[in-house]
Amino acid sequence: MSLDDVNPMDTAEIRSRFLNHFAQRGHTVVPSASLVAQDPTLLLVNAGMVPFKPYFLGDLATPWPRATSVQKCVRTVDIENVGRTARHASFFQMCGNFSFGDYFKAEAIPFAFELLVDGFGFKPDDLWATVYLDDDEAERIWLDLLPAERIQRRDKEDNFWSMGVPGPCGPCSEIYFDRGSAYGREGGPIADEERYLEVWNLVFMQFERGEGAGYDYPILRELPARNIDTGMGLERMATILQGVDNLYEIDISRPVLDAAGRLTGRRYGADPADDVRLRVVADHTRTAAMLIADGVVPSNEGRGYVLRRLLRRAVRDARLLGAREPVMAELFGVVGVAMGPIYPELVDNAETITGVAVAEEASFAETLRTGTTIFDTAVRQVRSAGSATLGGDEAFKLHDTYGFPIDLTLEMAAEAGLSVDEAGFRRLMERQRQTAKADRASRRIGNVDLSAFRPILARSGPTTFTGYEELTRESGVVGLVGIADGAGLEVIGEGDEVGVVLDTTPFYAESGGQEPDFGLLRFDGGVVEVLDVQRPVPELVLHRVRVRSGELRLGDRVQAEVDEGRRRAVSRSHTATHLVHAAFRRALGEGATQAGSLNSPGRLRFDFHALGAVAPSVLADVEDEINEVALRDLPVRAFVTTQEEARRLGAMALFGEKYGDAVRVVDVGDYARELCGGTHVASSAQLGAVKLLSESSISAGTRRVEGLVGIDAFRYLAREHLLVSQLSTALKARPDELADRVTDIVGRLRDAERELDRLRAAAVLAGAGALADGAEDVGGVAVVTAEVPAGTAPDGVRLLAMDVRGRLAGRPAVVAVVTADGSSIVVVTDPGARSAGLRAGELVRSSWASLGGKGGGKPDIAQGGGGNPEMVPAVFAKLRGLVADLAAR
Ligand code: ALA
Repeated sequence: MSLDDVNPMDTAEIRSRFLNHFAQRGHTVVPSASLVAQDPTLLLVNAGMVPFKPYFLGDLATPWPRATSVQKCVRTVDIENVGRTARHASFFQMCGNFSFGDYFKAEAIPFAFELLVDGFGFKPDDLWATVYLDDDEAERIWLDLLPAERIQRRDKEDNFWSMGVPGPCGPCSEIYFDRGSAYGREGGPIADEERYLEVWNLVFMQFERGEGAGYDYPILRELPARNIDTGMGLERMATILQGVDNLYEIDISRPVLDAAGRLTGRRYGADPADDVRLRVVADHTRTAAMLIADGVVPSNEGRGYVLRRLLRRAVRDARLLGAREPVMAELFGVVGVAMGPIYPELVDNAETITGVAVAEEASFAETLRTGTTIFDTAVRQVRSAGSATLGGDEAFKLHDTYGFPIDLTLEMAAEAGLSVDEAGFRRLMERQRQTAKADRASRRIGNVDLSAFRPILARSGPTTFTGYEELTRESGVVGLVGIADGAGLEVIGEGDEVGVVLDTTPFYAESGGQEPDFGLLRFDGGVVEVLDVQRPVPELVLHRVRVRSGELRLGDRVQAEVDEGRRRAVSRSHTATHLVHAAFRRALGEGATQAGSLNSPGRLRFDFHALGAVAPSVLADVEDEINEVALRDLPVRAFVTTQEEARRLGAMALFGEKYGDAVRVVDVGDYARELCGGTHVASSAQLGAVKLLSESSISAGTRRVEGLVGIDAFRYLAREHLLVSQLSTALKARPDELADRVTDIVGRLRDAERELDRLRAAAVLAGAGALADGAEDVGGVAVVTAEVPAGTAPDGVRLLAMDVRGRLAGRPAVVAVVTADGSSIVVVTDPGARSAGLRAGELVRSSWASLGGKGGGKPDIAQGGGGNPEMVPAVFAKLRGLVADLAAR
């Protein structure tokens, strides 16, 4: 088979044939998980098996023996290759079939072969396979399907696959399609991977890898079961089956490519360099849309930075291609049409998703304007200094102060023929990161190796959380771990700070923006204080504690007691946040979705998507409504249901939940319904009062409100009230007259100050005649040095100097006026003095500045500041000396 005689098949058809093939072979079809990985070792999901990792490791019981999925994936390590090769894309969909300790190689290989041949129409003669060096078993199975000369052995680099550190791994077998002699050399995949295109990777997941770079990592253990993980790139398969050149041209990508061409005035296929940029725009736009749909927002860290970088690269390339207007709104629309049928989240939230991209595009346009100017200046300086390297500090400044991404600096520097001191840049970045980390570290549970928790999980299973119903509970200690190194401990004593895992706990671990519970664990002969609570792995709750007294041993029983006051205050904030969210969506529209939140005792912070500032009147209305709703005494109710049902019920959700999972829904009466795992008050009336304090912008398209709840709101209002009464007494005005009264007073004060300045200046100027009369003659130049009272406005000083100069008309003149406190100096010269070489700027620098002040200026007028009274006589003496020297020449 060659690319010309395949059956064109659209991507949707390939996808459903894949899923059906495995459903018919006993696999449960599992929808794609969110791109936002639950896995703490990973930023974004980058393979089909990621959502199943705990099943492979044996950390969680597997719900099904066999599963199949088409998983959204993002990989940006090869971002430089995107657009340049036929096979690199930052977003792709991985079709996979999985066996969790069920079938193994003997089924996995024929399953794949049958689908390729019977389902997709490949000719067996065009297929090749590779196996790992010592994998005789896999080779024997292949020999029933392919001739020996089309089975090749490859080493660890090509045929051993692993996921994460620590993570599951195993030998693999890859299937290749021979595209024919037009595409390269004979000799199979080991000879040429352009001609022989990898279409499917079958991983025989058997081991767990430990830490180690490259392929030298140690094998930690055999996994509890032998598993299968496979990956077939949907886009790559579509490229072959649709007979197109590269994966940007397949049915679901081509419309984006064409739209990019339309918007930039280029035609795809006309110019190879343009084509690369068009593919970059199309690829990055689509990936960005998928990320935003899963709840990622642009930022300078982590996933947010991946997204920001993609959007900015897309915008920049669109501009370089000739786009003069914003392009994101339209491109996102096209992505929605192409991908929406498979990913309804793109369509459901189209407005919000596009809004995020449009806002980022606008803010980047601004960054580009300023940043490019700064960059050009830096380049000029580098060149004039005869160098060819832009300093790491310059690159850092561009990044840190102007938001100019480093990769853009690198590209632009390369275009300008310069290199960049990247190592220096990374050093500065690292220093900044360390500082930020030190700030956070004081409260956090350390960076404990996650494998420390596996033995606990294996022994005792997941922690049961009972804190929705109760605040105290007797539990058993099932794990004690060192905070710094994660080492398992048997016993802890007074003063120790360690992590404690209980079989059952009422303590809420920080999550979903809700701060953790604090409290005590009491036991026979002692007590420990709970300082923080986290979930280092989703299944376990870790209490960071300090031992106050006694010795606590593994296996002991403790009485866990949550600090009730703190919990209640945090719960009030959380329920109030739900009301704030619901009220903003009512006031601003459905697009005002949550971007983040923080619920601390009595205080809330809520970030949401909105394109501009929220008007003060809207904020006031929202606050009023929340308080009114709170007083309706609405019951707060939580229930668990399926994700699909929750959506149907109209629950507001942060995107990113895994489909199929049970979700918890929290209702505040009929006013707010939201997916939420947090704790809440029992009825809205328990909020007491909610006071919104401020509204501000935190990034393009994202706003933040902060507020107080309950007694904290009341105390704030009481303090404000007290302040008003005090002002009212002091200003002798009723509270409602205060604003007018203050405006009036401030206005009169300003007028009085102006009048005072005028009078002072007049008094100073009144002395001008006497000063001119008293001018000294220094080598034929009239020199006047004068002091004026401290507090004379700078304008007054300047006017006096110029006035005196005017009165000396006809003679070469230098006039210097200093305020008595040394806070400023003005020096002026006339044309006669200047032609004798006396320039005001230089005079200030050589007298005032050389003696400790700062300043400079032009030849006719210059000023300085930052001096002191003691230096004034020396400055004057120096000035006279300078005049004498120059006038003598
Ligand atoms: N997990 C394997 C891969 O990503 C199938 O290639």
